[in-house]
Amino acid sequence: MANLYLMRSRSDELNTIISTNLLKNYSKIYKNIAIYCPVIYIHRVPVLQGWLEEFNINQTVKSAYGFTFREAMEEFSKDPHNFFNVILEEYEELKRKYDFVLVNSFCEFGILDGFDLSIKLAKNLNTPIAAIINDEDKLIAQKYFDHALDGRNYVLINENFNFEEVQKLKEYDFITPHRFKYELIKQSVKNKKTVVLPESNDERILKAAEILLKSKVVDLILLGDEEKIKQDATRLSLDLSAMQIMNPLNSEYNQEFTSILYEARKSKGMSLEEARKLVQDKTYFGTLLIHTGKADAMVSGASTTTAETIRPALQLIKTKEGISSVSGIFFMGLEDQVLAFADCAVNPSPSAEQLATSAYVSAMTAKSFGLEPRIALLSYSSGDSGKGESVDLVKEALKIAKEKYPELNIDGPMQFDCAYDPKTAAKKMPNSKIAGHANVYIFPDLNAANICYKAVQRTANALAIGPILQGLKKPVNDLSRGCLVDDIVDTVILSAIQAQ
Ligand code: ACO
Repeated sequence: MANLYLMRSRSDELNTIISTNLLKNYSKIYKNIAIYCPVIYIHRVPVLQGWLEEFNINQTVKSAYGFTFREAMEEFSKDPHNFFNVILEEYEELKRKYDFVLVNSFCEFGILDGFDLSIKLAKNLNTPIAAIINDEDKLIAQKYFDHALDGRNYVLINENFNFEEVQKLKEYDFITPHRFKYELIKQSVKNKKTVVLPESNDERILKAAEILLKSKVVDLILLGDEEKIKQDATRLSLDLSAMQIMNPLNSEYNQEFTSILYEARKSKGMSLEEARKLVQDKTYFGTLLIHTGKADAMVSGASTTTAETIRPALQLIKTKEGISSVSGIFFMGLEDQVLAFADCAVNPSPSAEQLATSAYVSAMTAKSFGLEPRIALLSYSSGDSGKGESVDLVKEALKIAKEKYPELNIDGPMQFDCAYDPKTAAKKMPNSKIAGHANVYIFPDLNAANICYKAVQRTANALAIGPILQGLKKPVNDLSRGCLVDDIVDTVILSAIQAQ
């Protein structure tokens, strides 16, 4: 499978000449080629139609473009996420069907900058760029591309371009937040799971439930009074008719759940009466649905604290074999990469053993979501540069992790800049294979991790997906009380994948 992102110039004539030339060359190499214009000026649709006919491309005109210019401007200002998602989905559909896709970009995007958007799109599609650039603009364009693409794999062309040079370009491997989400959805539909949402009294949960039901990625169980949920759905104009609803106040499972909870917790002093009452609590009831295998995962916490949400799971579901403690990981979606931060949610002052466990389970979680883990144990010291109790703790954690999990790609202690940036790493820890290339970051305590993920989320406008609780036998995940509908949708999809 091959592809190319042709970044066009302001001259329609030049764009047509170069596009036609490229199509001519590629149609000699590939049997099935396709064209895709993410955004098209309406007056250029006949040109597109002409290419389809001239090169015998077996594709409808509508499948050859995403948005008209006007539609694109509207969608981009209304919902930029959806703008990128639609383009990514349509492009991937073509990639599945054809041997080669020529992406024909737009050169301007009204008052929004087309250059920046084109690079963003090419990174989302992982399509290498051939950009039509005038000779006088070459130097500045080169600087711009070197910076935006880490000096990688692009070519600046004009009318007399060398096709061999274009042909040599390789696909990118950026993991943008849109691509990461796209891959998650693909993964979750492969093996559909049932997720419990206990907080039916929260409008955000009901709105997320409708989105999830429509996209058919999971089955859902809502907890609460059926009549009240139906009234709320009508008031909010939501279609929740395909939803399974259970009421913990009068469920057929209450007796069974009471005795399971009582048996599990009586040694900790719980009475039968207490167990009976707790079963009517939505979080305990939801946890018991997972514990007894009647559902696969639970997502809660839109109106409860982290402690209230996860305590029933810690008490009942317990940790996986060989895992001593539960921790919480966030996937941080930056412009063109996804990093994992842990433990941002559970253990306030982890021991060295707990840090090592967090590193191990984080590596497993990262792997299950498509990242090849390279783990940095973070500290205010890199290598032997600094001293202190918490540095010693991290050194001890590294020792435990290496002994217990020899297969892990892990190193530390190291500072964040040393873990992230190859140039800094070359100075601070030149012999480390992880320094400068880490994608899983284990923080020394909950203060550092929680503050840092929120700082990155807010200041760098990163997409923060999580926390995903890891180490439990079955997935229970916590929402932030300030969560948005999109956060709930993401967490439900991640939980369903964890249950696979
Ligand atoms: N892993 C596995 N089991 C655990 C863990 C853990 N990390 N922590 C506690 N447990 C178990 C205990 O062993 C105990 O089991 P048992 O009763 O069967 O013996 C049970 O959970 C209850 O333990 P407690 O010590 O009573 O702990 P408590 O319930 O008070 O609190 C909790 C546990 C909720 C995890 C607590 O440590 C906590 O509040 N952590 C901070 C949560 C937080 O505020 N996070 C930040 C916000 S999240 C965000 O911003 C995304």
